Amino acid sequence: MAIKVVSTGRAIPPKRVTNEDLAAVMDTSDEWIRSHTGIGARHIAAEGVAASDLGFEAAEDALRYALDQGLVAEKNLEELAATIDLIVLGSSTQDYYSHPATACIIQHKLGAVNAAAFDVTVACSSFIYALETAAALLAADTRRKRAVVIGAEVLSAITNWEDRGSCVLFGDGAGAVLLEKRDGAGGLVRSILGSDGSGWEHLILRRGGSRNPWKKGEVVEQVPCIEMNGHAVYNFAVTVITKTIERFLDEEHLALEDLALIIPHQANGRIIQAAEKRLNIPAEKFYTNMEEYANTSSASIPIALDECNRSGKIKRGDLVLTVGFGGGLSYGGNLIRW
Ligand code: ACO
Repeated sequence: MAIKVVSTGRAIPPKRVTNEDLAAVMDTSDEWIRSHTGIGARHIAAEGVAASDLGFEAAEDALRYALDQGLVAEKNLEELAATIDLIVLGSSTQDYYSHPATACIIQHKLGAVNAAAFDVTVACSSFIYALETAAALLAADTRRKRAVVIGAEVLSAITNWEDRGSCVLFGDGAGAVLLEKRDGAGGLVRSILGSDGSGWEHLILRRGGSRNPWKKGEVVEQVPCIEMNGHAVYNFAVTVITKTIERFLDEEHLALEDLALIIPHQANGRIIQAAEKRLNIPAEKFYTNMEEYANTSSASIPIALDECNRSGKIKRGDLVLTVGFGGGLSYGGNLIRW
């Protein structure tokens, strides 16, 4: 039995904001952003667009692609949506604080009337965790056959646009995969998941939770937004990305040549370059698209998977490795036989 990725989809907001656009309104430059991050632009959701809107669009795109390509037996979206057993959303910018789960809103919009839906929130590592969670739940019950796993973010809603050290890094978007349990080998081979809670304060949205609840009558001077210790996150990211790749190669008895592509979380080109250097991996082995989308947190890996799938950069039978990190601090990776 294998948990296969059958189809992929994505949703990118049309509004594109370049580094030059940001330099026109704050003290930064295209040169600084490119040289420090590899980012050239980001896409920003329109006012009123939430994670469920982008997540729904990406999920529907994945289902339509499966129908158009004849990857499933169902004849239309309604029929296909009704066969889905699980919708798992990875996100750190859910529509509503605490509840309802944003995945439930997507389930309703999609017409996935037979699906259980819930959110997994591990900051930028959310999609990696969500994929493993969905696969494990499909494997756990013979009646469950299909899951839609989504990474969706509207980071612009929690970005501090007055902090040039962080606001230039982020973008909005969503990606999704359709998983199906099938006979045979391949599919999701294995995931590595990990945390280092000692760094919990390095990436944080402080207000609104039970630690710092809103108080009646309080005057809000700043909307809650991401606070980041860039240096600490950078050092953690290089270490865990390197170690996670090494662990996969070592524990799964793989050579680098066995991997068709490594799809890292698209946070910063310099983090990927440092991992390339430490592991002596050629740059072509890593897929990057942060030049166009910046860091879309839990959406970055499924967006990249969809681009690679549709462009033929990854083909059936290829071994693909995702690897990422995020707040928590957290990290992980998924090894997938496509
Ligand atoms: N434009 C121009 N100058 C800037 C900008 C900017 N946008 N941002 C910072 N600077 C300045 C600083 O003020 C500082 O100036 P100073 O020397 O006069 O004090 C100088 O540039 C250097 O700043 P550093 O913070 O030391 O820059 P660094 O080279 O460390 O790069 C960065 C900062 C890009 C944030 C880096 O630390 C990094 O990538 N960290 C990891 C961040 C990350 O991956 N976050 C997301 C992970 S989790 C998630 O995905 C949600």
